Amino acid sequence: MQFFTQLVASSLVAGSLASAIPLTERAAAVDQLVGFGEGTTGGGSGAGVTVSSCSALSTAAAAGGVIKINGKLNGCGTIKVASNTSLLGVGKGSGLINGGFRLAKVSNVIIRNLELTPPKKADAIDVEASTNIWVDHCDLHSVGMVGGKDDYDGLFDAKRESDKITVSWTKFHDHWKGSLIGHSDSFTADKGKLRITYHHNSFINVNSRLPSLRFGSGHIYSSCFQDCPTSGINSRMGAKVLVEQSSFSNVKRAIATNLDSDQQGYAVEKNNIFTGSTTTEITQSGQPDIPYQYTTDPAASVCGIVASQAGTGVITF
Ligand SMILES: *[C@@H]1O[C@H](CO)[C@@H](O)[C@H](O)[C@H]1NC(C)=O
Repeated sequence: MQFFTQLVASSLVAGSLASAIPLTERAAAVDQLVGFGEGTTGGGSGAGVTVSSCSALSTAAAAGGVIKINGKLNGCGTIKVASNTSLLGVGKGSGLINGGFRLAKVSNVIIRNLELTPPKKADAIDVEASTNIWVDHCDLHSVGMVGGKDDYDGLFDAKRESDKITVSWTKFHDHWKGSLIGHSDSFTADKGKLRITYHHNSFINVNSRLPSLRFGSGHIYSSCFQDCPTSGINSRMGAKVLVEQSSFSNVKRAIATNLDSDQQGYAVEKNNIFTGSTTTEITQSGQPDIPYQYTTDPAASVCGIVASQAGTGVITF
């Protein structure tokens, strides 16, 4: 369904673990996995374990299953995550400070309702050679565009033939490098992989990579982009990107296909709103095949919807 139908949202949620706050009007379900990541089940529906220290988290993440993180854990560094794992934040204030997750050669991982501030020089979430990933209702940030551009790495990066990914209802903010999908022009094994859906996210005060996508397929809808000064959705090396029902305000090169790589990318944009100093540079038209059903919310409403219904404390565990 690509057309907006106004629904009064119910507070009914899927899955036995989650509960949701009352919701304002929107078309898209707030507690549903949609997009290229469909089929991801994480650690399943068991009660799992609850952790409140870095050492307990590290042990649990290596074993897999359902893991609830209770509170803000400080200084965990980068935690390695096993296949078949759900990492779920308890309540509104749970997450990692100076900590992040690394998913390497794994499949089937869900990360929800967590605020993550990455360690220096590292990613908040780093996905390598991994498939079936769902990141939802997270808040990913550092300290803003201060210090050096490379003081931190990305907020959500995926590379090396990773595939089947959805990032939804997540706030990216106050950071230099947002989301890098595909790390190198010469890594041609990524052709046909790196399929990723981003929906109902916000990117506010992030310098670039909203995302940057090499080789893969990107579908970005009903998302809010504000005050991003260098480049936005950066389609490179033959990547194909469909961008729809999104709002861009003061985003330089909001959608571009001609930046930073040996070969250009492709993009199709429709039903977006561009305001303020926003510019676009789409030099080649082309979009990925979208094999799933989805529901958009209109560009004019998405910043309000995402402000109240993305991030942490909306779907709680
Ligand atoms: C993940 O779960 C699937 C389905 O139960 C199973 O086949 C697979 O072996 C599991 N992977 C790991 C690494 O445990």
